Amino acid sequence: MIISRLILKNWKNFKDVDVELQDRVFIVGANASGKSNFLDVFRFLRDIAKPGGGLQKAVNDRGGISKIRSLAARKYPDVEIEVHLSEFGSREILWKYAISIKQETRGFRLPLITFEKVWKGQKLILERPDEEDVKDTARRTQTYLEQINTNKEFREISRFFDNTLYLHLVPQLLKYPHAFTGPDLQDDPFGKGFLERVAKVNEKTRNAWLSRIQHALKLAVPQLSELKFTTDKGYPHLEAIYEHWRPGAGKQKEDQFSDGTLRMIGLFWSLQEGDSLLLLEEPELSLNGSIVSKLAPLIYKLQKPRKRQVIISSHSSDLLNDRGISLSEVIVLEPASEGTKASVSANIEDVKQMLSAGMTPGSAILPRVKPRNIQQLTMEF
Ligand SMILES: Nc1ncnc2c1ncn2[C@@H]1O[C@H](COP(=O)(O)OP(=O)(O)OP(=O)(O)O)[C@@H](O)[C@H]1O
Ligand SMILES: [Mg+2]
Repeated sequence: MIISRLILKNWKNFKDVDVELQDRVFIVGANASGKSNFLDVFRFLRDIAKPGGGLQKAVNDRGGISKIRSLAARKYPDVEIEVHLSEFGSREILWKYAISIKQETRGFRLPLITFEKVWKGQKLILERPDEEDVKDTARRTQTYLEQINTNKEFREISRFFDNTLYLHLVPQLLKYPHAFTGPDLQDDPFGKGFLERVAKVNEKTRNAWLSRIQHALKLAVPQLSELKFTTDKGYPHLEAIYEHWRPGAGKQKEDQFSDGTLRMIGLFWSLQEGDSLLLLEEPELSLNGSIVSKLAPLIYKLQKPRKRQVIISSHSSDLLNDRGISLSEVIVLEPASEGTKASVSANIEDVKQMLSAGMTPGSAILPRVKPRNIQQLTMEF
């Protein structure tokens, strides 16, 4: 399944969003335009749906309703999220899920749902608040999505959200996990526990995935000849051998890998892991431009047989210059006084014209999202 349309009201820096999403989506925008906030909608739905999660935790983990609700919105409006779900490669609506949240005005000031709706196809199969919710407001602190005894009719959606995977691998966290103490973040978005994740996969699958990664790394990392999984005193490790080393020279462990090598390993691993929604945060970081320019077709090749939607935030012209990218796949974020505007680039006339005049998607779109006065940076700093 994929998320084929997203409608938002008052979500963080977005006041109003209504965009169609394709099987592969690129989110582009200047710094602080809301790319990560856009991806966070899907992580929020996952956090509600996952076992041990729920609405209260999902909101609290983000600092409460006041942090989620758009500051551009007037007074205290509700935060609304609606998603439409379709089969990969199709626009036909299989499911729709919509939720609206506000904060209790009195008492514990807990997040409450003001409505929760589910449609199977076009048929409305859940509409809250229902009679019970009216009698007992406490029920509105939980969604039906998060409860096994209430989501029976639409558990498929709940599972889909729960399986969402987000990757923004920070090499230093992976290299030196013990230097970063404190409670681990749920779902490990920054890859601190990446090696444990690799260790958990059964040996046959792990070897198959690592062998594909090794193949890719041999093309991308000069002289890397072997990549292996090992354990040392019970701890999982990755090990690499380089061609230029003298025979018998030792192997390198992950704490000596380059940042780009680790980010590529994390990226290639995630592309093989699972078949639900994958969110990739700026996959271009630390990578050579020639590799970045191959990411869009590579992601396409790997997602298609898995029928898996991938949503990618990016600043990179190398990534977006691939002519295989369709304008309907690119969402452009443009900050404005009334919150950030999100548009599908195929609906932007200038961009369409530039593309038909022979420009690449990146060169037609990226100039739109550069900060307006950036030329002055060197003069005025
Ligand atoms: N509740 C809110 N209302 C309005 N704006 C908000 C809210 N919460 C966060 N923001 C704004 O969103 C912006 C951050 O957005 P985000 O981190 O998604 O940007 P980004 O496009 O991912 O940037 P970068 O490219 O630097 O990673 C900040 O400027 C922040 O002030
Ligand atoms: Mg960001």
